Parts: sequence; structure tokens; C-alpha cells
Amino acid sequence: MKIFSGSSNPELTDAIANHLGLKLSPIEQFVFPDGERRIKLQDDVVDQDTVVIQSTATPVDQNYVELFLILDALKRSGARTLTAIIPYLGYQRQDHIFRDGESVSLQVMIRLLESMHVDRVIVLDLHSIKIPEFFKVPLVHLSALPLFAEEIKKLARGSAEKAILVSPDMGGLRRIKEMSELLDGMPWIATVKDRDLDTGKINIETIDYFDTGLSDADLKGKKAILIDDMISSGGTIVLAAKLLKEKGFNEIYVFATHAVFSDHSSAHLQESVIDKVFVTDTVLVPEEKIFPKLEVLSVSKMIADKL
Ligand code: R5P
Repeated sequence: MKIFSGSSNPELTDAIANHLGLKLSPIEQFVFPDGERRIKLQDDVVDQDTVVIQSTATPVDQNYVELFLILDALKRSGARTLTAIIPYLGYQRQDHIFRDGESVSLQVMIRLLESMHVDRVIVLDLHSIKIPEFFKVPLVHLSALPLFAEEIKKLARGSAEKAILVSPDMGGLRRIKEMSELLDGMPWIATVKDRDLDTGKINIETIDYFDTGLSDADLKGKKAILIDDMISSGGTIVLAAKLLKEKGFNEIYVFATHAVFSDHSSAHLQESVIDKVFVTDTVLVPEEKIFPKLEVLSVSKMIADKL
């Protein structure tokens, strides 16, 4: 097997290659003055099973194009099979039409990806449950929830009755119920998020207890454990945490798979009422975006185990 890496997340690629005891195959990449890029494989791939690892986070379009060019070079150079590992799949939040006249950007990206003759795609924690159905090629959908569950057990050790799982929105209910199952039925609630589709502005002002039997009185002095698929601007998590603190939670922990960290999210998270933010390495967090409350857990072993 030969492993290649796009430029988005070399640290994760190295960690995966290390788990497999393999050396990364080099790629020569040249960017022309006009921004176009040229890819040249520097390893023989004839009749080889090949793997490309590329997260399509910021810069999203550039990372997708780089991935497509590497896949094309592999196919043209005689690779037997192509596996694309896309730990963070860009455009996944535009998985349907929200307002008339919009494109379904994710479908466009998947169609382009499949036109590169990939045999298999490996992704982590997709935004919605229907996304796997968009793929015509075999898809392996991994989840960081079991990894997070182990950390939550440590946080809740000796006081599990004091911990409550929280989804920041209704889109995360499936996720929170899965996490509750992994944690022997830990109670869960959700904050109610409204987003203005034109401006993107978020509002989080109430809690939905569903039929859990919990009420405001049960939150005082407890540990809130917020679970989300990604943090981008940080708006969702910071506003949800603020409401939870106002409702009486003592400590607030956040677990989110994809550290997209756009804008000034790192500073907002650090300055927020949140005690600690756990993410994974599906997206590389650059040095300047690392902050003291952040802890990064690695999904490299989980991915390597699938190869
Ligand atoms: C939304 O439905 C997602 O699950 C995340 O909550 C959201 O994308 C996070 O974005 P931001 O950090 O910009 O609020």
C-alpha cells in the first residue's frame, strides 16, 4: 500500500503512516504565479493500492482541487485502487437547499470526487445522517464519539450523577443520544438554536428538556458536556455555554470532532465560560489558533485500523 498526503493535514497523515509502519510517498507540488497547481507523484504506484489523505477544511476549494489532482495523477499512473481519506469533508453543511436558488454544494463535491474513480472514501462524523446516501462509492463513516466517551468518563469519574450531556441544537440530537448510550444512559438535554439564514446570526435562549424528566432545578452545580460535530466561528458553542452557565451549571466542557476554527473562534472560546474544549485532529489546528483551554485528541489510530 502507498500513502500520499495533500497539504492540509501532514501531521495526521504522519501519525496514520506511523501506526501502519509505512513511509509517506512524496509528491512534488508546484504553484504557478497565477495560482494554478501542478502535482507530480514521486513514487511508483503501478498495480498498488493507494491512499490519499486530505482534509477539505480551510482553504476549502484549494484543498478539494489538490485532492482531485492527486487522485487523477494516481489513476493515470496505474494505481490499482484509490482510497480517499477525507477526515473533514468540506461543504457538508450545505447538504440541501435551505432557500430557493441555492446549490447543494456537498452533492457537487461528491460528484467531482466520484468522477476521479475513487474506490472507497473514509470520513469522520458527518454533519447529517443522510449524507452517506449521497455517495455511490463505498463509504466508511467513522465517529470520534467513542474516543470522546473515554474522556467524558474521566471527567465524570466519581460524580457521574453530576454530568449532563447537552446538544447545542436539534441537529445534534442523534449524536447526543448515541453518546448517552455509550455512557450508560447519561442524561441529556438540548439548547434551542435559531439561525437567521440571511445573516447567519445565531440565537440560543432556551433549553428543551424533551421527556427526560429534567428541569431547570436539576442543572444547578452540575457539569455540562456539550457535544457538536464541528466548531467553526465558535458562535454556537459559546452562546450555548453562556446560557448553560446562566442556568446554573458549574463546569462546562465541550467535545467537537472538527476544529474548523474560522475567524476569531480561538479567542472567543478561550474568553468564554467554557472550562475546556476537546477536539480531534481531523483538521490541523495551526499554532496561532491553539489556546490554553484546548485539547486535541487523535483519530489517527482509528483511521489506520481501517486500512
Ligand atoms: C450546525 O448545525 C453544526 O452542527 C455546528 O453547530 C455549527 O456548524 C458550528 O458553527 P459555528 O461554530 O460557526 O457556530
